[in-house]
Amino acid sequence: MPAMASIASVESLKKKYPEIRDDYTIDQHWERYSSVEHDIWHTLFERQMNVLPGRACKEFLDGLERLKLIADQIPEFERLSDQLESLTGWRVVAVPSLVPDEIFFAHLAARRFPVGQFIRKPAQLDYIEEPDVFHDFFGHVPMLAHPVFANYMEAYGKGGLRALTEFGALKNLARLYWYTVEFGLIEKPEGLRIYGSGIVSSRAESIYAVENPSPNRLHFNLERVMRTEYRIDDFQESYFVIGSFDELFQETYKDFAPLYRKLAEGPAYRPGDVLTADRVHHKGTHAYVGGSHAAR
Ligand code: PHE
Ligand code: CO
Repeated sequence: MPAMASIASVESLKKKYPEIRDDYTIDQHWERYSSVEHDIWHTLFERQMNVLPGRACKEFLDGLERLKLIADQIPEFERLSDQLESLTGWRVVAVPSLVPDEIFFAHLAARRFPVGQFIRKPAQLDYIEEPDVFHDFFGHVPMLAHPVFANYMEAYGKGGLRALTEFGALKNLARLYWYTVEFGLIEKPEGLRIYGSGIVSSRAESIYAVENPSPNRLHFNLERVMRTEYRIDDFQESYFVIGSFDELFQETYKDFAPLYRKLAEGPAYRPGDVLTADRVHHKGTHAYVGGSHAAR
């Protein structure tokens, strides 16, 4: 996700990662992961495989299958990238952690997905502040095997560079990323399903996002989403639902310049708001008051 925390400079990261390049990429050093670290991956993977069937969308589950993401070990980026590249032209590159926005967007625009090299500690199975290899790889990479979503992510990277340099509209564009790439739901004949990485990489939120009566589930609308603030430290109070990946791509494959001008004025919405103009799939009870990461 676009960076929110403060980010170390390449210079200061050189102590720990002497090979770090100007685009923040490092070598994965797969051989350095310990068996304890591989076990953490394995545990997280098994947990998600227990909750995702019937909750994650077919496209995500197909992506996992197609990449043959193996349960027992942290994936080797180079090997998996060769597979991914043959499907959609995307590759995965290792980075220490969050990277600056312009670096992040430039990677996406070139069909490279930056993945945090480290894995969380055993005490952080349910919640981590910074995206690790489980969130970044398990959460994001399967969708990059889907051709339409793969194009959306590249377009997002290009749009990010534009928003940053020409429009100063990063806040608006980051909301789009948040409510689609990270926390998106999709409407299927069998019900609402998850495609957002922030959900599929969290056991508790995978259940909450689909089944809990507390959050709103509102149909995706570009301007509405770009005006909506989000919570970074708890379950979402609203999820936005797309009808299809083609709908998402069509809604965003247009020049955002007039929209950015419009967004410079007018209201921002709070995470839990429901507006009369919203197409409501489910109006949340807001019974969940949150505050507990233990719940994740
Ligand atoms: N169409 C957007 C623009 O003109 C770019 C974009 C595409 C952003 C897809 C997000 C997703 O800036
Ligand atoms: Co993410």
